[in-house]
Amino acid sequence: MASIQIKDMSVSYNKGKSYVLDKLNLDIKDGEFCVFLGPSGCGKSTAMHCIAGLLHPASGEIRFGDTVMTRAGAKGRDKIFVPPQERNIAMVFQEYALYPNMTVRENMSFALKTKKAPKDEIEKRVSYMAQMLSIEQLLDRRPAELSGGQRQRVALGRALVRDPQVFLLDEPLGNLDAKLRDQVRYELKKIQLQLGITTIYVTHDQTEAMTMADHIVLMKDGHIMQQGTPNELYDHPENEFVAGFLGTPQINIFSCEVRDDVLDAGDFRLRIPQELRASLAPYAGKRVDLGIRPSDFELASSQENAIAAHVDSIEPLGDAYLIYVRIGEKVVVFKYTGEHAPQDRELLLTANMKKLHLFDPQTQERINQ
Ligand SMILES: Nc1ncnc2c1ncn2[C@@H]1O[C@H](COP(=O)(O)OP(=O)(O)O)[C@@H](O)[C@H]1O
Ligand SMILES: [Mg+2]
Repeated sequence: MASIQIKDMSVSYNKGKSYVLDKLNLDIKDGEFCVFLGPSGCGKSTAMHCIAGLLHPASGEIRFGDTVMTRAGAKGRDKIFVPPQERNIAMVFQEYALYPNMTVRENMSFALKTKKAPKDEIEKRVSYMAQMLSIEQLLDRRPAELSGGQRQRVALGRALVRDPQVFLLDEPLGNLDAKLRDQVRYELKKIQLQLGITTIYVTHDQTEAMTMADHIVLMKDGHIMQQGTPNELYDHPENEFVAGFLGTPQINIFSCEVRDDVLDAGDFRLRIPQELRASLAPYAGKRVDLGIRPSDFELASSQENAIAAHVDSIEPLGDAYLIYVRIGEKVVVFKYTGEHAPQDRELLLTANMKKLHLFDPQTQERINQ
């Protein structure tokens, strides 16, 4: 097991003309489940490939615990590069390739056999891992005789029997249908907790990140936009990108003018609560972006801070309703958890004033702490 530190790591695919990762700094604790999250092309796989040793960064340092795995710097000074096979890592990709002519047992034993591990040790580890992944009954089948979900579990098992110090997964559940994905996700998290292996999991899916991560690293265009626990990012997004990336349906954003003691969105006005006054003082007479999550609207019980909304459509979710309303011209989503959907087409809503997110429209940075 190991912690992972990345210091000032930059990566270029065109000899320094442009950088796909720019001075990345990251600290992953021993045993942590860390998720690299972000839109396609933001550099998640690139960062992971550097950690695996499949890619040479242009500059920076990667350490596992106290051991330097990669050190790249100006003019090759103090260069260190530990090759992938000496890093004691295991990787699983979306396109997991099992050996088709081997049984599940042989697939899972293969790496240990190559390392010349004793036979009873191999048997013990394979059967332990098979039990963890509920694939004991499949050990004598070949990959062609397995479903997609079973194959993916074998791929995880094959990676994990080697007892790696770091476990790297790159969009490993992308090929599975939704139900299987939920199941394998749950099993993966359970095993990771039991084995306590430092894990990095790459995904563009915010639900996977929210449900599995101890630590989310949310990236955009080769930069870290914010990192922290899922709740830190969700409850306290440091910028509009993070606010919009986490949460389904997405957060609603309103452009407001800060006037006297109100936030004026044109179609409604909210009285600025005491605790936001200081942060909003520098914005007097200017505009701010106000973010309200769908679950932070509620039906108003008085005229105070009331927002007139016209119901467009209602989607029952089983345990709640998504109500699409129009506030002025703007379509807004409201998640309503009452037992019965409101009958009226005209509603008075209000926002949970303790959960307002305010951003500077120019910098997109969070205003209220
Ligand atoms: N081998 C490569 N050569 C040139 N550009 C690459 C290569 N691999 C990735 N890129 C570019 O680097 C950026 C980051 O890619 P990648 O790390 O694969 O993103 P992600 O995994 O977040 O989708 C993208 O703009 C991609 O086009
Ligand atoms: Mg990728």
